[in-house]
Amino acid sequence: MGVHKRKIIIIGAGHVGSHAGYALASQGLAEEIVYIDVDNAKAKAQALDVFDATVYLPKRVSVKAGDYSDAKDADLLIVAAGPLPDMSKGQTRMDTLRQTIKIIREVVENIRVSGFQGIILNISNPADVVTHYIQNALDYPPGKILSTSTTLDSARLRRVLSEAIGVDQKSIYAYALGEHGESQMVPWSAVTIAGKPLIQLMAERPDTYGKLDLEAIAAEGKAGGWHILGGKGSTEFGIGAAIAEVVRGIFGDENRILPVSTLLNGQYGQRNVYASVPAILNRHGVSEVIELNLTEAEQEKFNASCKTMDENFRLALSL
Ligand code: 2OP
Repeated sequence: MGVHKRKIIIIGAGHVGSHAGYALASQGLAEEIVYIDVDNAKAKAQALDVFDATVYLPKRVSVKAGDYSDAKDADLLIVAAGPLPDMSKGQTRMDTLRQTIKIIREVVENIRVSGFQGIILNISNPADVVTHYIQNALDYPPGKILSTSTTLDSARLRRVLSEAIGVDQKSIYAYALGEHGESQMVPWSAVTIAGKPLIQLMAERPDTYGKLDLEAIAAEGKAGGWHILGGKGSTEFGIGAAIAEVVRGIFGDENRILPVSTLLNGQYGQRNVYASVPAILNRHGVSEVIELNLTEAEQEKFNASCKTMDENFRLALSL
């Protein structure tokens, strides 16, 4: 019988890893979840806690703590290891690169030895650069390794826009692109409401839409992570839901389009850099990049974001 149990490995049983597991379990996106953490007791506790929840969740999921030997036959592996930016020191996500790469080096070796051949979803910050680092170190097929990256920032942007215009966030198409971090940009020319360009609505309705301060909205979306981190020391529910959304697109072979970080190969005039762009997700991972028609000013901002990520990728290689 061709029954296949979808198996997900989560590396890192911290805040993001734990919420990722719960989001995946509660949305019925896996039959098996395995936590791996250097702190095995914590991985065990996390697994037990999520497993308890499954008794009252709609679908059966087996959740346990394990090691890299569990990865061999897994379908998807989530890398959620590494520190959160220290806000008291004014650290950005990019500033955590050195600390994260130290941890990621070991993770990469363990993945290599495990014989894992599925799809890698990296969340560890700086997400885009770390994903590129893992892809390069493992010489992994680029379509099979991606990051949620600005899927999360796009959610924050849509929330802020929704509050500003009074339309449900699910009816707003808007992306933050480039880096899951400070250099991200919003291509306003591609933002639509019910298929109508926001820019056009602003021209037609100067008294309402026309009053929107697009720069302030983009800034507020970008600041979302900092508000949450500052208020409770971690971000977790948003990223958990973003992970589940990406995994659903992949496991469901949905051809769903989400802004994820993928290796650009000429698209948007960029090569050999991981950046977040709308992409089609299916069982192969990232199957195609959608190229939006950016204005010249938008393209410049996107290029600047890619430059930052490329420089930091090179830095990561030199560490
Ligand atoms: C977030 O944006 C901190 O990258 C994390 O939620």
